[in-house]
Amino acid sequence: MKHGLLGAATTLGGLLLALAAGAAAPPPTEKPSAEVQAQMSGQQGGSEADPGAALFAEHCASCHDGLVERAPHVSFLQMMAPDAMLQSLDTGVMRQQASKLSAEQRGQVVEFLTGGRPQPPAFPPKNCAPDRMAFDWDDPPFQAGWGVDHSNRRFIPAGVARLSPAAVPRLELKWAFAFPGATRARSQASFAGGAVYVGSQDGTVYALDRETGCVRWRFRAGAEVRTGITLTPWQRGRRQETAPLGYFSDLVARVYAVDLRTGELVWVTKVDDHPNATATAQPVLYGDRVYQPVSSLEVVPAADPGYPCCSFRGSIVALHALTGEVAWKRYTIAESPAEVGKNSHGTPILAPSGAPVWNTPTVDASRGLLYFGTGENYSSPAQDTSDAILAIDLATGVRRWVFQATEGDAWNLACMPFIPDKANCPEENGPDVDFASPPALVDDDGREILVAGQKSGDVWALDPATGKLVWHRRVGRGGNQGGQHFGLAVEGRRVFVPISDYDDSMLPVAEARPGLYALDAFTGETLWATPAANVCGQRKDCDPGISQAVTAIPGVVFAGHMDGRLRAYDSSTGKVLWEVDTDREWPTLSGEPARGGSFGGGAGPIVVDGRVYALSGYGLYFHMPGNVLLVFGAP
Ligand code: HEC
Repeated sequence: MKHGLLGAATTLGGLLLALAAGAAAPPPTEKPSAEVQAQMSGQQGGSEADPGAALFAEHCASCHDGLVERAPHVSFLQMMAPDAMLQSLDTGVMRQQASKLSAEQRGQVVEFLTGGRPQPPAFPPKNCAPDRMAFDWDDPPFQAGWGVDHSNRRFIPAGVARLSPAAVPRLELKWAFAFPGATRARSQASFAGGAVYVGSQDGTVYALDRETGCVRWRFRAGAEVRTGITLTPWQRGRRQETAPLGYFSDLVARVYAVDLRTGELVWVTKVDDHPNATATAQPVLYGDRVYQPVSSLEVVPAADPGYPCCSFRGSIVALHALTGEVAWKRYTIAESPAEVGKNSHGTPILAPSGAPVWNTPTVDASRGLLYFGTGENYSSPAQDTSDAILAIDLATGVRRWVFQATEGDAWNLACMPFIPDKANCPEENGPDVDFASPPALVDDDGREILVAGQKSGDVWALDPATGKLVWHRRVGRGGNQGGQHFGLAVEGRRVFVPISDYDDSMLPVAEARPGLYALDAFTGETLWATPAANVCGQRKDCDPGISQAVTAIPGVVFAGHMDGRLRAYDSSTGKVLWEVDTDREWPTLSGEPARGGSFGGGAGPIVVDGRVYALSGYGLYFHMPGNVLLVFGAP
């Protein structure tokens, strides 16, 4: 148990948290869930020691146990910032439910749920001088979204990156920005109007001046924004008639549009009413539509034999870009879940369920298609659309083809070896090998191929017209944090595949192959392999693998490792050209304490105008916490 899994697992909650990492997604922090706490203290409704627990059991649990539509499961409440939750009880959507509680009691419930006292957040001041505030129409966005281009190649052209391989070894810190109170930083930077836009753990989205890092504006969403911000495109110097918008989503499946000039809210839409629904994928903007994938954390409550497992189905929701109205919603599983039997406790089993969508779809404008990957089923029987790549019609969402990489994968946390009562574990019992990466559409002189990495460590290449398999290669050992976790990058016909192969102690260490690999997109041939050196030493929660997506510029691939190193690799040889250890304290403009840690989550570094923007800190699933946006440039 290298990472002290058993130690942490002396609380069932800690165990669930550790294991839910298998879902490529973020259940709660260090704190056991309310139900688990109640179970541990041997009481159904809170304990005398914690008045907040008793208040929660009396006034809140009936709706937040995961069975009431729209009401987020308690595991999501635990991930909220304390002050944001207090605001929702005092003046927000929960004011009526909390009206019987005194101010002190509201504070107690918040502290019980979030583990923190609700204090006014120590926001960095809006500290830009007037000449750093102006929205610059001469700086249009170069990113179509998460994958830099709509093909999800994560390739930044020379004219945008403006960083030569020769200058890379001289990169040094330009400025750093601290996300207050955060333990993880997994959004991705977007650029336009002279600003860098970025989300954060307490739900604050920032517009920072690109040159100096001062704060132009901030917008507070209700829950963590782990997606990047997708920007309205415009042509250089051409002022738009409509407001330039930024689109992003929060942890309880709300999609937002804000005015990029001011941070004012334009619309917000909740795209799924399931209590465990979440949005981890950065939305896609194409034409007048915003496409939001929906995922979930229902694998967590499923560990409880009294929970009717499972009722969530993954989907893609298309919204009108200007209004946020839902145009259509297409589920990854056509049939709605219904009772198919009872588990050994007499709790209903619901199926089909699962096949969540974790990451940003790929747009194929010429074929009029949207491609994305799915995760496993949650209950039995498994379907033919789980662990699959799907192609749907851009305009209507109608399915065109399905390529299923792994058949018969139904899994939830009840299947974990340490869960004493496995009543809700489906008979398929795994192997839990989601696609948390979107496929990249590779184009080489008019020849096209779709390349996708899976948590199993496999890479699949498909014909984009038909979904037929062209080649397949096993690159990593795989594991519940990948394998190929969150995304690859492409330069020309070369595909860069980051491998996590996290040492979670349940899989053979000898077969782990963490590192960066380059494959030919059309043949699958290995061009080079650079296994990650293990430089962790005695560092706690340090791991050499790469979980987050990587990013390419001409000649160089940037990769953030879970050991806290940001590395630049020569893209023709795999040689490491430069690295920096971000697991340390960093000086910030505001004087706010900033610390780096592991690189994790779905996003990755972005390179623009000779500078590299990377977010460090991943205080989940036994990785090193941190709260910093780092900007490196050559002198
Ligand atoms: C009658 C059912 C019900 C009860 C009782 C209830 N809630 Fe809620 N809660 C909901 C629903 C439904 C939502 C989602 C509202 C929405 O999305 O508009 C919600 C949302 C929330 C949110 C998220 C708010 C946000 O801004 O995103 C928090 C926090 C919350 N509840 C806390 C509590 C607490 C604490 C209690 C007990 C004092 C409580 N709730 C009692 C049904 C309930």
